Amino acid sequence: MKPVKIAKDIYDVGVNDWNIRDFHGYTTDLGTSYNAFLILDKKTVLIDTVKAEFADQLIDNISKIIDPKQIDYVISNHTEMDHSGSLPRVMHKVGEEKPLFCSKMGQKNLSRHFGQKWNYRPVENGEELSIGSRTITFMETRMLHWPDSMFSYLKEDKILFSSDAFGQHYAGHEKFDDLVGDTIMPHAKKYFANILLLYSPLILKLVEHVTNLKLEFNMICPDHGILWRKDPGKIINAYVKWSRQDAKNKAVVVYDTMWHSTEKMAEAIVEGLSGQGIEARPMQLRKWNRSDIMTEVLDAKAIIVGSPTLNNGLFPTVSDFLTYMKGLKPKNKIGAAFGSYGWSGEAVNLIKNELESMNIEIIDPGLKVQYVPDNQSLEACIELGKKIGKAITG
Ligand code: FEO
Repeated sequence: MKPVKIAKDIYDVGVNDWNIRDFHGYTTDLGTSYNAFLILDKKTVLIDTVKAEFADQLIDNISKIIDPKQIDYVISNHTEMDHSGSLPRVMHKVGEEKPLFCSKMGQKNLSRHFGQKWNYRPVENGEELSIGSRTITFMETRMLHWPDSMFSYLKEDKILFSSDAFGQHYAGHEKFDDLVGDTIMPHAKKYFANILLLYSPLILKLVEHVTNLKLEFNMICPDHGILWRKDPGKIINAYVKWSRQDAKNKAVVVYDTMWHSTEKMAEAIVEGLSGQGIEARPMQLRKWNRSDIMTEVLDAKAIIVGSPTLNNGLFPTVSDFLTYMKGLKPKNKIGAAFGSYGWSGEAVNLIKNELESMNIEIIDPGLKVQYVPDNQSLEACIELGKKIGKAITG
């Protein structure tokens, strides 16, 4: 990716990671980008960097505009390695003595990551930095999604550099919302569901805070994916909707299967749900990545989980998914468990216990079928689907 001029004297000097397909366990079918921003004013400022292996590309991009030594200030909005991994190389090029602005937690975390005695300038929430004709306001956004996270707001241009927030894992030459259109929204939704969902209450508070401050945005520039310039309000509104976790008349039936028995049950439950007008889909855990399933869970009212009993326990992929979902803390869901078994049949209760521990309201004692479901068992599955459907529309 070449530098992209995003406003007068402001450039995205980041890189596209076209081939990444697994971002710490999250599938990225269209790759991602690590955006970094260069602002030319009386002082020249670099906001964020890129993954370590892309340091040369970042430095090359900067060099197409200015000599990196001309950078006066570096800002680190977030410590995670996809944005800080090339800081050591960048600081070496820019000059180790140059001020490095970050949150207080950012200083701690950058020190832990790199063990360098850089010229840290930890900033307070609301602190301003004049860079000439422009002013940068720092906004702490602790736990969105790391303790060190912060935003940098360019006051005069009304541009928000929002770190991970409002991002999407998407690599493309189109750098703006108006060039991509609504096809970007599923990527933004997946990003939210898998990275930010557990911080929903903080997001609602932050949006309220920003609304009270009457901040205006000409552009929102996240560190991943496209930049929002045509309609920044669109992604803010989407975040409010997703953070509220208002559900649709929708159910996700997630399961794994050994000899297709739990699979047959899942499909029959979906049949029952669909008969009630509920949007429903069976999702087998060895066919769907957990991150795609979580994206579907985000706006579903019901989450129904099935597992065969294996060695007195859950099928491993089901355990994996339940652990993953628990960490993301979905709210306002109802749920149920099902599964086939041979002789002991613990899986259904184990799932139920896990769902309960996530405050998912269990609306059925659970459905177990021994070995292979017969017509009567499949009818019971359809009835379970209908029951859940009625609870959804209730
Ligand atoms: Fe894109 Fe939290 O790093």
